[in-house]
Amino acid sequence: MKVDLLIKNAQIVSARDTVAGCIAVKDGKIAAIADSPEGFEAARVIDAGGKPVLPGGIDVHVHFRDPGLTYKEDFSTGSMAAAAGGITTVYDMPNVQPPTLNVENFQIKKKIAEEKSYVNYGIYAYLVNNLDQIDALIEAGVCGFKWDLSTFDWELPEGYYLPDNNEAADIFKKIAAHDYVVTVHAEDMELVKNYTEHLKESGRDPKDFFSHVEARPDIVEVSALYRTFVLSEVSGCRVHITHLTSKRGLELIKEFQHKGTPVTSDVGPAWFTFCAEDYEKFGGGIRVIPAIRYEKDREALWNGLANGDIEVLATDHAPHSNDEKFNRSWWDTLPGTIGVQTSLPIMLDHVNKGEVTLNRVVECMAEKPAQIFNIFPRKGQIAVGADADLVVVDMDKEWTVTHEEMYSKTKYTPYDGFKLKGKPVMTIVMGEVVMEDGKIVGKPGVGRMVNPRKDW
Ligand code: DOR
Ligand code: ZN
Repeated sequence: MKVDLLIKNAQIVSARDTVAGCIAVKDGKIAAIADSPEGFEAARVIDAGGKPVLPGGIDVHVHFRDPGLTYKEDFSTGSMAAAAGGITTVYDMPNVQPPTLNVENFQIKKKIAEEKSYVNYGIYAYLVNNLDQIDALIEAGVCGFKWDLSTFDWELPEGYYLPDNNEAADIFKKIAAHDYVVTVHAEDMELVKNYTEHLKESGRDPKDFFSHVEARPDIVEVSALYRTFVLSEVSGCRVHITHLTSKRGLELIKEFQHKGTPVTSDVGPAWFTFCAEDYEKFGGGIRVIPAIRYEKDREALWNGLANGDIEVLATDHAPHSNDEKFNRSWWDTLPGTIGVQTSLPIMLDHVNKGEVTLNRVVECMAEKPAQIFNIFPRKGQIAVGADADLVVVDMDKEWTVTHEEMYSKTKYTPYDGFKLKGKPVMTIVMGEVVMEDGKIVGKPGVGRMVNPRKDW
C-alpha cells in the first residue's frame, strides 16, 4: 500500500487498551493500522521507538483572543502552544472583539483561524438574545454555543443581553432541535456582586487574593447549575458544564445525571492542581473564574476526572497581559491563566505517578470531548478512516516547565518550575507533522474547522 506517512514501532493507545503496531496515513486520514511495517511504501517513515501514540488532544475551552484582543494572544501563537502541547483540536470561545454572536462576526473569526491556525479548531457562538441567528450560525459552521453566565450585558454590543429564562427556553429548544451542545459557565453573578461588595466594604486588602474565593463561594456555582438543569429539562437540550470547580457542584451534576438530565462536565488543571492556600504565593496569577477553591474541592475534582465522573479535561486557556494580572486589586485583576501547552504533560506526569491510566487520559482528552461535541468518530480515536491527528509522547522525559518555553504571547504560567515526567515529542495534524521535539515545524493553515456536520 502506497501511503504518505508510516509511524512504526508505536504503542497505539485508546480509551480501552494499548496495542503495539504501525499507523499508515494517506490524504490526512488513517489508511491502515497494522502489526508490522511490511507491505507499506511510505513517503516518510517515523520510528516511534516503542513510544505511546495517542489520538491528538481536543481542548473544548480556549481563548485565542483573535480578533480584537491580540495583544494577549492570537490564533497563531495560541495554536502553536496547542501543537507544542499535543493538542490537535481547540474550541475557541466567543468573547473576542467583535464577539461571536452572529454570522457576520463568526465569518470574521473563521477567516482568521483559516489563515493562522496550526491545529484544527471549532468556533463557538455566544448564546445571548440571538434566537434569530441560531439556525444560520449552525449552517455557517459553529461547533456549539456558550451560555456564559459570568458575562455582564455591558460587555456585549448594544442591543445584546443575556436572556431571562423565558427567552432562554426557546433558544435552548432551538439548539436541542439540532442536537448541539450548550457549554455553560456556571456562576450566579447577582450573588457574586453581593459577596464582592460586602467584602470590599469590610476593608479587605486589595492585594489579598484569598478574598477572590470568598467572593465566589461554591453556592454561586450551585445556583447557576440548578438554573441550567431547569433549562435543560424545559428544552431537552444537552448541557456541558465547563470548568467545574466545586465538590458540591460535582455532587449535584451526578444527582441530575442519575435522574436523566443530559449533562456532562469538564475541569482544567488549574482547578485540580491549585487550591486556596496557593493564593498567597501566586496572587493574581491564579485568579481564574469560577474561583480555585479549597483542598476538599481540588481533591474531589481530581478524583472525579481520574474516575470519569467528570468526563472531560479542558483548560480554559485564558491569556492576559502581565499588567492585567499583576498590577491590580483582587477584584479588578482579569481572570484566567494559560494552559493549552501544559495540560497533556501534566496528565502524563500523573500517569507516571500511578494516579491515572494513559487510557483514561486518552478518554478525557480525546474520545469523550469528540463524542460529546459530536465530531466522533472522525476525531477522538486512532482508527481506520479517522483523521490523522496524532501525538507521540515520551513517557520517560524529565523536564521543568518554564515561562520562556511557552508559545503563548502571555508567557506567565503558574506551572513555571514544575518538574514533570512525560512530554509530547511529536504532534501530527491532518497527517502533517506540526511539532517535533518541542519545535513548531508545520505551517499555519493545516488546521480545519470542525463541527457536528463533519464536512471539513
Ligand atoms: O478565568 C476565566 N477567564 N474564566 C473564563 O470563563 C473566561 C476567561 C477569559 O476570557 O479571560
Ligand atoms: Zn473561558
